[in-house]
Amino acid sequence: MAETPQRLLLIDPNEADARSLLALAREAGLVAESVAEGQAGFERAKVEAFNAIILDAAAADGGDPKGLGLVAQLHARHPRLPVIVVSGDGSSTTAIDAIKRGAFDFLAKPVGKQDFQKVLAAALAASRRMTKPVSIGRASGGEDTLIGESRAMMEVYKDLGRISPMPVTVVLRGETGTGKELVARALYQHGHRAHMPFIAVNCAAIPESLLESELFGHEKGAFTGADTMRIGRFEQAHNATLFLDEIGDLDLSLQSKLLRVLQEKQIQRVGGRAEIPVDVRIIAATHRNLESMIADGSFREDLFYRLNVASIRIPPLRERRSDIPLLVEHFASLVASEFGLESVALAHDVTEFLRQQPWPGNVRQLQNVIRKAVLKARSYGIRVSDLRGILEETRQPVRIETPHGLHELITDALRRSIDGESPGAHALLMARVEGDLLAEAIALSGGNQAKAARWLGLSRLTLREKLRHYRLHPGERTKSTRTAPPDS
Ligand SMILES: Nc1ncnc2c1ncn2[C@@H]1O[C@H](COP(=O)(O)OP(=O)(O)OP(=O)(O)O)[C@@H](O)[C@H]1O
Ligand SMILES: [Mg+2]
Repeated sequence: MAETPQRLLLIDPNEADARSLLALAREAGLVAESVAEGQAGFERAKVEAFNAIILDAAAADGGDPKGLGLVAQLHARHPRLPVIVVSGDGSSTTAIDAIKRGAFDFLAKPVGKQDFQKVLAAALAASRRMTKPVSIGRASGGEDTLIGESRAMMEVYKDLGRISPMPVTVVLRGETGTGKELVARALYQHGHRAHMPFIAVNCAAIPESLLESELFGHEKGAFTGADTMRIGRFEQAHNATLFLDEIGDLDLSLQSKLLRVLQEKQIQRVGGRAEIPVDVRIIAATHRNLESMIADGSFREDLFYRLNVASIRIPPLRERRSDIPLLVEHFASLVASEFGLESVALAHDVTEFLRQQPWPGNVRQLQNVIRKAVLKARSYGIRVSDLRGILEETRQPVRIETPHGLHELITDALRRSIDGESPGAHALLMARVEGDLLAEAIALSGGNQAKAARWLGLSRLTLREKLRHYRLHPGERTKSTRTAPPDS
């Protein structure tokens, strides 16, 4: 990518560790430097704009008798700078203390390459969401631009201008790929809490069983596997902004809990009693039709009214076809510069052809089509004949039973983790695959759970529990085809 490289500061008194972490960071394409001592790092961060800091807890005393004072100092001075704490003392108290003081994440030493790169990528994505301004209207070169000069987009910009300074909960409505995330970032950046963190949770990407603890945290021993206490996103977002993406995917029990939090402005960690006050500005988004969900009982009406204090509707691409030429130009030049290509020629009929398409995947689909077309174009430019094939590809639903579909699911799960939308590709992918596997087995067995359990090699009890978990109703022919966004 032809962008300025991201900068990383490493604060680590152990020379050998510092060397290996620096090497990993540079391998990931960062410009990285290190200092051995906490205070020196603090001074360095005052004069240089870093995208992330890695701080060894051993260097982190900062004059605080409990240790980790430096985390709090860094967080107070640079609230939007992700600080990843690493420690040779992998004890849970260090991790918890670090997060309580505002650390972005915690890693135990020795730090594995994969963990490191995953956490680093999430930190950089978070930093970008907070600090890279979303520009509005016409291409200014960068990717973080909301393109569109149509009347429909003007309405969105007016709403943004009107709502962003107000300290209210906002719901962003719009089909998949319409730009809800960009709008959320713009709202945050123009809002009264722009200097504080923007914390994003994708409710659809996190398995249901983990989501409550992701949002509200948990106490040690709250459930099997809760070996340590955990601070949830609401606590992390205290005095800041929380982006609850895919809010329509919350199950009813979490909806009630969220409603309570909005009403009482305090949370309880899972397994905990204490009421912890939180002051959080919520921006929620969904591509689902909440009104029809309310009508069929799958979304709480009272929660809807609590959330929907202000709302912005982001129009589908087919309602603003006049923006298509601008978007095409924008994406083509982004892809060209990313790959160091000459600007790409478009055959005379390409723009009109693209304007006519239905775009069920909206801007994201258009972006993908252009990307593929640019890479295919070579010297002759983009032609309608190539676009036809590419459109066909991007419109295909992902079918899990084909290796192609499985590969797509895997890359999508990894992408979501790399983008920081999900806490782990493994859990996400397993949850998706498991749900489909169970559904298919139940369907093939004609709803006979004993048979399905035998084929699956599970006990009937386990199967029943899992079916409940995935909300699969035995006996029903459940869809075995997962439709992902057309381009994912
Ligand atoms: N108006 C726009 N101008 C430029 N790029 C856009 C615009 N709208 C969306 N995009 C790009 O399209 C992609 C999808 O946008 P985004 O992730 O915001 O969609 P979304 O509405 O959140 O979709 P979903 O409901 O599937 O999560 C992103 O890469 C984004 O940068
Ligand atoms: Mg989104």
